[in-house]
Amino acid sequence: MCGIVGYLGDRQAYDILIKGLKRLEYRGYDSAGVAMIDEGDFRLFKCKGKVSDLEDNVGVKVNTGNVGIGHTRWATHGPPNDVNAHPHLSNDGSLVLIHNGIIENYASLKAELINRGHTFKSDTDTEVLVHFIEDIRDKTGANLFDAVRIALSEVIGAYAIVILDKSNPNQMIAARKSSPLVIGVGKDNEFFIASDATPIIEYTRNVVYLEDEEIARLDRTEGLKIVTISNQNKDPYVQELEMKLEAIEKGGYDSFMLKEIHEQPRSINDSIRGRMSLATGAVRMSGVDEHEDRWNKATRILIVACGTSWHAGLVAEYLFEEFARIPVEVEYASEFRYRNPVIYPTDVVIAISQSGETADTLAAIEMAKEKGAFIFGVCNVVGSSIARATHSGAYTHAGPEIGVASTKAFTAQVSVLYLLALSVAMHRGVMKQERLNRLMAELNSVPEKIAEVLKTNDAVKAIASIYKDSTNALYLGRGYSFPVALEGALKLKEISYIHAEGYPAAEMKHGPIALIDENMPVFVIATHGASYEKVVSNIQEVKARKGNIIAIVTEGDKVVKELADHVIEIPKSDDSLVPLISVIPLQLLSYHVAVMRGCNVDQPRNLAKSVTVE
Ligand code: AGP
Repeated sequence: MCGIVGYLGDRQAYDILIKGLKRLEYRGYDSAGVAMIDEGDFRLFKCKGKVSDLEDNVGVKVNTGNVGIGHTRWATHGPPNDVNAHPHLSNDGSLVLIHNGIIENYASLKAELINRGHTFKSDTDTEVLVHFIEDIRDKTGANLFDAVRIALSEVIGAYAIVILDKSNPNQMIAARKSSPLVIGVGKDNEFFIASDATPIIEYTRNVVYLEDEEIARLDRTEGLKIVTISNQNKDPYVQELEMKLEAIEKGGYDSFMLKEIHEQPRSINDSIRGRMSLATGAVRMSGVDEHEDRWNKATRILIVACGTSWHAGLVAEYLFEEFARIPVEVEYASEFRYRNPVIYPTDVVIAISQSGETADTLAAIEMAKEKGAFIFGVCNVVGSSIARATHSGAYTHAGPEIGVASTKAFTAQVSVLYLLALSVAMHRGVMKQERLNRLMAELNSVPEKIAEVLKTNDAVKAIASIYKDSTNALYLGRGYSFPVALEGALKLKEISYIHAEGYPAAEMKHGPIALIDENMPVFVIATHGASYEKVVSNIQEVKARKGNIIAIVTEGDKVVKELADHVIEIPKSDDSLVPLISVIPLQLLSYHVAVMRGCNVDQPRNLAKSVTVE
């Protein structure tokens, strides 16, 4: 999952490319490169490391030309190094290309090209693609636009590409399949292109989202032309971006992750606004109201997602089964798509994704769609592939989430899924109005309660300083808090690199309790609710083996306070809303531990914000 950017216009390309790459760096950050056309030749710079390393590598920049492409990488083929970094040149050096995705049949293409005298410098599938396009161009005499189209019709895999021909500085060719690509349309045939809208927003609000298997020619004279891989003309559909520039700045915080944790009162408010009315007692989810028939006839709900979104799906399982009384199965999208699952046309599939670009979730959707299921998407990125692939859906309005570790998107997803479950329950007539009113009022008070919990930041930081050198950690929860235990463990793993596992608290006795000793921190969500007494017993089992207990408790709790080594108090709420509040201290804790261990919290090693390849 790389970040790609391109510019064609009257401005100096280099600055625009570098700024754009920095905005996209959350997509991959193990190597970077740019290529511009200047006086009929390529100026290509690339190296291992971050965009800032590339800037150091380029040093003082001179006139860089008005057309260029840039790339920040998350390695799939070949280790992160200077040679495997993008952009890649074609065999005769006349073409240069950047790519986000995976060319699955690159090995067979490479073998053919080697037989035809091509020589390769890198281990990448991408270099094979630009050589293949050159080969098609030379063999068929086609222009670059057609050569790209013909070449891509023989390629298997996922791609978003931009390619330049050094003999034509007035043109860029781009194409996509599975990997996202947005074109920014400026004035007088000035064009910006990128993996998402963040590098484009400061220059233009007019964008075109390239669809799967579309190829675009961006030309200073002839403007924008789009065709499909089967050479059908497509009229560009220009949309206006809603996103604001300040939404993608740090806003005075040390990191995007800390900013996004503190944005949650606002992001939850924005995600529930207009979807419920305490005055009229109505919950309004257009994706349900307009498809009442599919929801009312649904015999089962299948939830497909990955990572943190999967944890939000697990919370939704408890919500839908409790409120709407529909059986729910929560599926890892990557397993679901290859398991040949039994899917009925009466199934509703809920696909959850912050980025809306996760390849496994997208593939799971396509498969379920083929089998006649009704697909409902819950996405954060407007105009994303998943949002456009579903029959209906609801956006979370969390705003851009830049930190790789998902925080505000999780609570926004759970808030939207909460309203979805309430709406379906009302449509199916299985919930009383007074219960709905009470739950909506409680949901409405969550942002305020989170603002209260954010004030425990210093106390959480103090606890983090005690456990920052741990090598392992366990997270325990029951019922609605079990998914939160999984989410807490994932947050610690992905940004501090401490091995951590989440478990249903009762599952401890069936094995994990063997891990407990005086070196094992055990984070327990022990709020007042249906399984409180049971959780207290689980805490006693851990204490009996000298484990360290850090408990999230309901304010005023006395029992767990006696047992635990540390407690973090949160305001009381209905069990079903505890996930939204209890996850906050766990987000803060993992953040502070990671900072104290000197980790890059926004760009953890080996990770990327959206996983656009399998
Ligand atoms: C979470 O912090 C991770 N970034 C990752 O697990 C993420 O949730 C997963 O890749 C799914 O992404 P999506 O929500 O964009 O589909």
